Amino acid sequence: MKFAFAVALAFGTAVYACQRDHSALGHSSHATRRLSRRQAAFPPTLTEQESILANSFDNNTISDWSYYYTHGDHIAGRNRSQAQWTADRWSENGFTSSLAEYHVYLNYPVSKSITLSYPNGSSYTPSLEEDVLPEDETTGYPNRIPTFHGYSFTGNATAEYVYVGRGQQVDFERLVELGVPLEGKIALAKYGGPFRGLKVKNAQSYGMIGAIIFTDPGDDGNVTEANGYAAYPDGPARNPSSVQRGSVQFLSTYPGDPTTPGYPSKEDSPRADKSVVTPSIPSIPISYEEVIPLLAALDGYGTPGNQVNRTRWVGGLNVTYSTGPAPGAVISMSNVMEDAYTPIWNAVGVINGTSQDEVLIIGNHRDAWLIGGAADPNSGSAIMIELSKAFGRLLETGWQPKRTIVLASWDAEEYGLVGSTEWMEEYIPWLTGSAVAYLNIDVGCSGPRPSLSATGDLHTIAVETMRKVIFPQGEAMNETLFDVWFAENEGVVGVLGSGSDYTSFLHRGISSLDVGSDANPNKNDPVYHYHSNYDSYHWMATYGDPGFRVHTAMGQYLTLLAYHLVTDDLLPFDIPNYAEQMQLYYDELLTVINSTSSQLDTNELLAAIDVFETRAAEVVALQQQAQATGDAALLEVVNRKYKDFSRGFTSQGGLPDREFFQHVLFAPGLDTGYAPVTYPGITEALQAGNVTLAAEWVTKTANGILVAANILKT
Ligand SMILES: *[C@@H]1O[C@H](CO)[C@@H](O)[C@H](O)[C@H]1NC(C)=O
Ligand SMILES: *[C@@H]1O[C@H](CO)[C@@H](O)[C@H](O)[C@H]1NC(C)=O
Ligand SMILES: *[C@@H]1O[C@H](CO)[C@@H](O)[C@H](O)[C@H]1NC(C)=O
Ligand SMILES: *[C@@H]1O[C@H](CO)[C@@H](O)[C@H](O)[C@H]1NC(C)=O
Ligand SMILES: *[C@@H]1O[C@H](CO)[C@@H](O)[C@H](O)[C@H]1NC(C)=O
Ligand SMILES: *[C@@H]1O[C@H](CO)[C@@H](O)[C@H](O)[C@H]1NC(C)=O
Ligand SMILES: *[C@@H]1O[C@H](CO)[C@@H](O)[C@H](O)[C@H]1NC(C)=O
Ligand SMILES: *[C@@H]1O[C@H](CO)[C@@H](O)[C@H](O)[C@H]1NC(C)=O
Ligand SMILES: *[C@@H]1O[C@H](CO)[C@@H](O)[C@H](O)[C@H]1NC(C)=O
Ligand SMILES: *[C@@H]1O[C@H](CO)[C@@H](O)[C@H](O)[C@H]1NC(C)=O
Ligand SMILES: *[C@@H]1O[C@H](CO)[C@@H](O)[C@H](O)[C@H]1NC(C)=O
Ligand SMILES: [Zn+2]
Repeated sequence: MKFAFAVALAFGTAVYACQRDHSALGHSSHATRRLSRRQAAFPPTLTEQESILANSFDNNTISDWSYYYTHGDHIAGRNRSQAQWTADRWSENGFTSSLAEYHVYLNYPVSKSITLSYPNGSSYTPSLEEDVLPEDETTGYPNRIPTFHGYSFTGNATAEYVYVGRGQQVDFERLVELGVPLEGKIALAKYGGPFRGLKVKNAQSYGMIGAIIFTDPGDDGNVTEANGYAAYPDGPARNPSSVQRGSVQFLSTYPGDPTTPGYPSKEDSPRADKSVVTPSIPSIPISYEEVIPLLAALDGYGTPGNQVNRTRWVGGLNVTYSTGPAPGAVISMSNVMEDAYTPIWNAVGVINGTSQDEVLIIGNHRDAWLIGGAADPNSGSAIMIELSKAFGRLLETGWQPKRTIVLASWDAEEYGLVGSTEWMEEYIPWLTGSAVAYLNIDVGCSGPRPSLSATGDLHTIAVETMRKVIFPQGEAMNETLFDVWFAENEGVVGVLGSGSDYTSFLHRGISSLDVGSDANPNKNDPVYHYHSNYDSYHWMATYGDPGFRVHTAMGQYLTLLAYHLVTDDLLPFDIPNYAEQMQLYYDELLTVINSTSSQLDTNELLAAIDVFETRAAEVVALQQQAQATGDAALLEVVNRKYKDFSRGFTSQGGLPDREFFQHVLFAPGLDTGYAPVTYPGITEALQAGNVTLAAEWVTKTANGILVAANILKT
């Protein structure tokens, strides 16, 4: 999937990554350790094996792979041959590859319509289609995929309607405060902020009977037609007809097949009630060009946008963003979907390591909402083929990894991380015993600004590896990925929320990392048309990454990072940094406690962090001893601790009312879906005003940290 959310108030822009949430940077910046800048040596010096890997990258073949993936229907469950093609390329490069099939619930679009009837009897009917552009051939494919919401509800709704801002809980609370009637009305919501499925969930929970979600150019920074930029395909601004598709699953409750929570979807698997995580009101996405009459008809009714006093309520269109409803202005909407219980295919490729009880998984999804999908997700898919080629070159020299490498090309990520979640659910006992880490690349490139989120143990190796890659910005060619990433992110590694396939692994206690490179229109990057037909090969080659040079750098990075994780005698984990991160999250928790004026005793948590810190220092001492003496048995003891300790962070029953999410240190926010919350059990109980529950979670969180610390104990 991908997903957009505001990058922190501090930066005030929207960034898309298959749901990479940069807002984490903003809200927690006061508590986030910033690395100090140390210029990377230029050019970087690589070892012989690192050079073989980096030099095997070729922007021309990456472009070929990108072209392949972006010229055929590959929505979830509809393209087995593309899965097989992926497995075949990996096989050619030395990975033993096959397909893993699951039978899952999906739904596909049949028809939809919206009609606005004005009080005077005339009406407006938007086309709900994106323009076909002669310059961009895949936008005109006869089998191009309609605009729709995955897992949306089949139904009709006819009612007056209300503009609900970004559709967060707080937006609805504000509307109630303003006396705006919601019950029985249709919600008109803006994209941005929370995951789209949660907008629909919130509307539904306030008794609304339908939802329409629109793209707003106010989230495109400076790069807008209003500012004089030409729109795609003539320039970098958003094409006015572009529509954001996407899933409306209630992602923060549980991901995966809605009908098989907690177990893999086989043909004969029992099926659970899906209404827990899928909407029961219809929803339809719409472009900014076509939403204008809907917004304009509310002008002068209800509370004007500038009086609602909610962040980002007013967008970039020439309307007042009034709440409405406008008496007598009625929308009739109809959404028809076809249910399917259908096969999906993950491609899985393996190179056995010499130490087979240690496994690194590198994953990317393959399915897209579009014929294209050049950024989301197939920039990552193209990179994964090139990565397999690089390891193939190294295998030819006689190299074998110490640890097993598993490559995964997931299907049905867009609907709700379905392929990765079902696979995890099938192999969880093996993963619990063997996985050292999961590395994710979804949108490998939608622009020139690299971004990284990871669990604390992976920060150091992830950042150090950036110094080894030349990042092709501008003509100078004198900067490393580290230089560019540092300048972009102030040296802050993000916290994982959700929105891509690392989620299932992270929440079973597997150290995880997510990497990609994004666009920031506030810095004048071309606008990325997230989940639109214009996320195409033509857009990528013309605006997103001309020359495929960012693809190349991101691929070299992921390859070198994976190389060290599977080759180094000692897993290159930084355990003391994990302790430091916990301390930072703790400082943040204190401010939450303060801001909610709650009385909550958190000493038990603080004590657990202290114990973890002590154990971390001890295990580092043991590691140094192992390295100094070269004692192989001792090295393996340390490796095992590094592999296993993070399983301790999981809490068996999961978070309140969302059993799937087990990690006690971070989770996607219940009402954000993408953006992370740290110490989620405690923080969300406080936000809900339940101090009793928060106190229970202080204990559960402390226990998780102590179990992890105990595994590290020397
Ligand atoms: C599957 O994808 C490939 C490559 O994008 C494309 O050539 C092929 O037509 C697609 N198959 C189907 C059934 O759409
Ligand atoms: C009815 O109202 C709409 C919106 O104000 C306007 O655009 C349209 O011209 C009106 N139609 C007639 C027949 O007056
Ligand atoms: C919005 O905020 C302004 C400035 O603080 C205030 O004057 C106004 O009354 C507020 N509007 C509402 C509807 O509360
Ligand atoms: C914005 O809308 C108003 C009222 O419809 C109109 O008078 C004004 O010309 C519009 N401004 C722009 C820049 O289109
Ligand atoms: C829903 O709306 C569509 C389009 O207006 C119409 O064809 C269909 O009959 C309606 N269905 C029901 C059950 O009202
Ligand atoms: C890799 O190891 C597994 C488990 O030991 C074994 O079943 C498989 O045949 C091996 N694959 C190759 C290509 O050696
Ligand atoms: C690269 O070169 C540009 C232009 O000469 C310069 O502004 C920039 O500081 C250099 N960057 C590094 C990391 O040396
Ligand atoms: C964006 O536009 C604003 C206002 O027009 C201007 O002040 C700012 O410098 C622009 N930023 C960039 C990066 O061009
Ligand atoms: C690959 O890079 C070379 C050198 O910069 C460039 O000439 C070529 O056009 C690029 N290939 C593609 C497919 O963009
Ligand atoms: C709590 O908030 C008050 C008022 O904003 C502030 O003075 C105090 O320093 C805060 N305490 C902590 C522990 O953040
Ligand atoms: C608060 O949490 C406790 C403990 O889980 C639970 O028993 C209680 O019902 C909750 N209170 C409210 C108001 O939700
Ligand atoms: Zn994606």
